[in-house]
Amino acid sequence: MTAQRKILVTSALPYANGSIHLGHMVETIQTDIWVRFQKMRGHDCIYVCADDAHGTAIMLTAEKLGKTPEQQIADMKAEHERDFAGFLIGFDNYHSTHSSENKELSELIYSRLKANGHIAERMITQAYDPEKGLFLADRYIKGTCPKCKTPDQYGDNCEACGATYSPMDLIDPKSAISGATPIAKESKHLFFKLPEFTEYLREWTRAGHLQPEVANKLAEWLEGGLQEWDISRDAPYFGFEIPGEPDKYFYVWLDAPIGYMASLKNLCDRTGRDFSSYWKPDSDAEVYHFIGKDIINFHALFWPAMLSSAQFRTPTKVCAHGFLTVNGKKMSKSRGTFVNARTYLEHLDPEYLRYYYASKLTAGVDDLDLNLDDFVARVNSDLVGKVVNIASRTAKFVQQQGGVLSQEIADTALWQKFVDANEPIAQLFEERDFGRAMREIMALADAANEYIATQAPWSMAKEAGREKEVLAVCTLGINMFAALMTWLKPVLPKTAAAAEEFLDTELTWRNATLFLSSHKINAFKPLMRRVELEKVNQMIEASKSEAPAPAAAAPTGWLAKDPIAEEIEYADFAKVDLRIAKIIAAEPVAGADKLLQLTLDLGGQTRNVFAGIKSAYDPATLVGKHTVMVANLKPRKMKFGLSEGMVLAAGPGGKEIFLLEPDTGAEPGMKVM
Ligand code: MSP
Ligand code: ZN
Repeated sequence: MTAQRKILVTSALPYANGSIHLGHMVETIQTDIWVRFQKMRGHDCIYVCADDAHGTAIMLTAEKLGKTPEQQIADMKAEHERDFAGFLIGFDNYHSTHSSENKELSELIYSRLKANGHIAERMITQAYDPEKGLFLADRYIKGTCPKCKTPDQYGDNCEACGATYSPMDLIDPKSAISGATPIAKESKHLFFKLPEFTEYLREWTRAGHLQPEVANKLAEWLEGGLQEWDISRDAPYFGFEIPGEPDKYFYVWLDAPIGYMASLKNLCDRTGRDFSSYWKPDSDAEVYHFIGKDIINFHALFWPAMLSSAQFRTPTKVCAHGFLTVNGKKMSKSRGTFVNARTYLEHLDPEYLRYYYASKLTAGVDDLDLNLDDFVARVNSDLVGKVVNIASRTAKFVQQQGGVLSQEIADTALWQKFVDANEPIAQLFEERDFGRAMREIMALADAANEYIATQAPWSMAKEAGREKEVLAVCTLGINMFAALMTWLKPVLPKTAAAAEEFLDTELTWRNATLFLSSHKINAFKPLMRRVELEKVNQMIEASKSEAPAPAAAAPTGWLAKDPIAEEIEYADFAKVDLRIAKIIAAEPVAGADKLLQLTLDLGGQTRNVFAGIKSAYDPATLVGKHTVMVANLKPRKMKFGLSEGMVLAAGPGGKEIFLLEPDTGAEPGMKVM
């Protein structure tokens, strides 16, 4: 075996703006398998990731939910971590780009780029939402296509005719945020002078850091000429303010890759590892970034250029993968194939998907298809039918003879096949050719099953005097199973742990083909259940109901969209203090297009509450009405002030509140049960 390597591995940082879905899982499963493999080989390998927390989208989502961006990203991070843990992703650290480490490192890197003369500044004109006070990225502008006149098209291209244009060319453009007509407005922006790195990147992209097809694609871009990269955004923006540039923020993609370093820094500070040894220019560590093919330019052009200017080392390898399709098509909410990680985990075992993805992954950037029928068939036939079957067919005969394996290798030629396969399989893992690795492993599982079927220990066991033979055949069976499970351990960590308990040994690469003889094993328990097609169908149905109802289709009812929550005890309900409240003032909130500020009389106390009901009510009509509020909700600090409770609301989008006429006899402050 080679000397111990020091390896840092990352997966792309998921946006804190949405849930993890099975597309994201292609990447984290691929990375996790590779990391577990390196650790099993005895290397010093660490795996870090983080949430990508900055940007306009997160700011707007938080606002819509009536939360601060900080609350929103904390909630998402908890959800992401829970989902990844559900898929057995073994991060050594999971951090956030909205962290002190990332702020410091981003400022440091920026200051070095600036000192090196790699930052330019100039005025640019952009679309601006005068109502919201916000510069609008193309995706926040909608209007009628100037070419084919289809209404409701996004700012940069038409979904109907495919035309591309600038958002200002749209007919009757509107801000997708406020509905206001955007105006053109100038402001100063900062740019990273990427063109100065053209020669550097021409070499770097050909120096073995990239897959050949990726390097070829980048060569085309490099030929076409690189543009300066806009790295600043105007306030309001959720991100880090640029030092010395008031009201300007780093564009989310500037500090996102620095988030890899920040997560490592956070890990090093906690564990005493040496951070600089990973990122100094002459580092002896290897750095691998696993990413999707959509974000190659950020990782293979901007990132190495920034790092080299800032006197840090560049990645050893950027490993790009393709996109997930389901049943041959793009994931789709209406077909139920846009499956969230959580929904999958509610129906199916994470190891099924880990294996299926492994069997489909290559070292290339081709898209990979999750075909649901094939998924069921493949997992059942390979894992349950082939691998686990070897142990379940042989273990009981070993147990019948006391549970101690024989000393004899019953078929040395067959065992030699396994011994010979050990390093080639490792090589396939190293090269991320997991699909081929799985095929090699399954071919050996076939050989093992054939051997057992031919020997038929179950018949032999019925004949007197053949105990030794039976034990030898089954001992070889158990050893072949142990080798197969060792190679599958990076893919199936949970099943491998159960196999280790059964075999009473630790499965390591070094010992994969060390024949276990005269060794006592434990009783065999079923290691894996078959995938049921029914469960897969239920998952698809559940994913359909998570999707927003398509505009034209008949509504499916609120129950379908929001399933009734888990049953609670009376005591849980009794904790919620519902009260009649009289609305004594209702006013719009400057800068929030959905909120009304309500002043509520609780019979002696007044409360200030922000409610997202502006689209449903003229504030004047609310004054004097009674409603129901949660009176003991912990006050929450919002961008606009403190919200001290909630009013109960229902209706499409949760807009309308429950209003009671003042003459029902309900008095402000009265308890509602
Ligand atoms: N936040 C950026 C990455 C910053 S890295 C410094 C981002 N986030 S993402 O949430 O959109 O995507 C995270 C990763 O998941 C990306 O590598 C992306 O390619 C991958 N995938 C997202 N959807 C995917 C599929 N449908 N299929 C396969 N991978 C996909 O990009
Ligand atoms: Zn068009």
